[in-house]
Amino acid sequence: MVEPQPILDPLTPAAIFLVATIDEGGEAVTRELLADLPGLRRSVGFRVPGSGLACIAGIGSEAWDRLFSGPKPAQLHEFPGYQGEKHQAPATPGDLLFHLKSETQDAAFELAMKIGERLAGAATIVDQTVGFRYFEQRDLLGFVDGTENPEGQLAAIAALVGDEDPEFTGGSYVIVQKYLHDLDSWKALSTTEQEKVIGRTKLDDFELPDADKPANSHVAVNDQDTNGNIVRANMPFGSVKDGEFGTYYIAYADDPAITENMLIRMFLGSADAAYDRILDFSTAVTGTSFFAPAAGFFDALPDPPAPAAAVARESLETNGVVSGDGSLGIGSLRNR
Ligand code: HEM
Repeated sequence: MVEPQPILDPLTPAAIFLVATIDEGGEAVTRELLADLPGLRRSVGFRVPGSGLACIAGIGSEAWDRLFSGPKPAQLHEFPGYQGEKHQAPATPGDLLFHLKSETQDAAFELAMKIGERLAGAATIVDQTVGFRYFEQRDLLGFVDGTENPEGQLAAIAALVGDEDPEFTGGSYVIVQKYLHDLDSWKALSTTEQEKVIGRTKLDDFELPDADKPANSHVAVNDQDTNGNIVRANMPFGSVKDGEFGTYYIAYADDPAITENMLIRMFLGSADAAYDRILDFSTAVTGTSFFAPAAGFFDALPDPPAPAAAVARESLETNGVVSGDGSLGIGSLRNR
């Protein structure tokens, strides 16, 4: 069986999300880091027993072409971004994603620092979000977040590529978005009104009966019976100083179209609802797509892409314009 990255592990109290862009010429150093990542994780995690330190690395579409030759995950593409009539989901830069999960903050932060050190001069960290568990797995809107995630075998089927793309079995398509909440407007709603926005009860987290659940509630818009299943690992984050209170949305799927269709329904609407009502209180400020290959990928990375000159030469050779020794095939002229 192909071992996935620890995508299906349960949510932890601490998580750090790093998104980085690879600088021009930084490809070789990035490859070295990716190859060393499993060892770095072991070194840091083993020193903090009980931390359960886990790291999932994802690679964006354009970055894939810069880092690797050979086959590419069939559905990997850049995050499209969505412009609805009222709300928008921007597409923002990102070549690499590091999703660090840990029982303790120290282990996650130490590994984040190591990743940053190793990428210095080769890649730029464009976003760092430090997530934390808030009470009973609640988001900062006060609702329990993650309940309807598929479990067990269903989770594996939802999140992991199967036989449909045999080179990439055990991998997963990841979409991340950082959302900022307007807590003043949110708190101005009564609990009953908030429950109609989410589609579940606030205190004990039960789904509202269909008769009470508005079509534009978050749960109705994203209903997995209609859309298909995804595995979410959202985390709250915030800064009291900056007045920023948010949810880091992260979803793993065997096909990015499932999450993208949910985003279309949320932002562009559907026959049932103009848009997802949660967006009146939560603004998306980032959006990026990645592929998280199976764990073994990092132990034997594909070769780097052939340098441009070699590619050009190969194509000339194939077309018979240049001979294998690099001459123009008119050596007899040279010897005259
Ligand atoms: C501000 C950002 C978000 C917040 C605070 C949030 C919060 C929640 C909460 C509280 C629930 C109900 C409990 C649960 O089953 O987890 C939920 C359900 C869900 N959310 Fe979100 N969510 C956010 C963004 C998104 C986005 C962007 C998507 C998809 C693109 C999404 C997809 C889902 C799905 C699939 C469910 C389960 C629906 C079902 O019952 O089948 N969420 N979310």
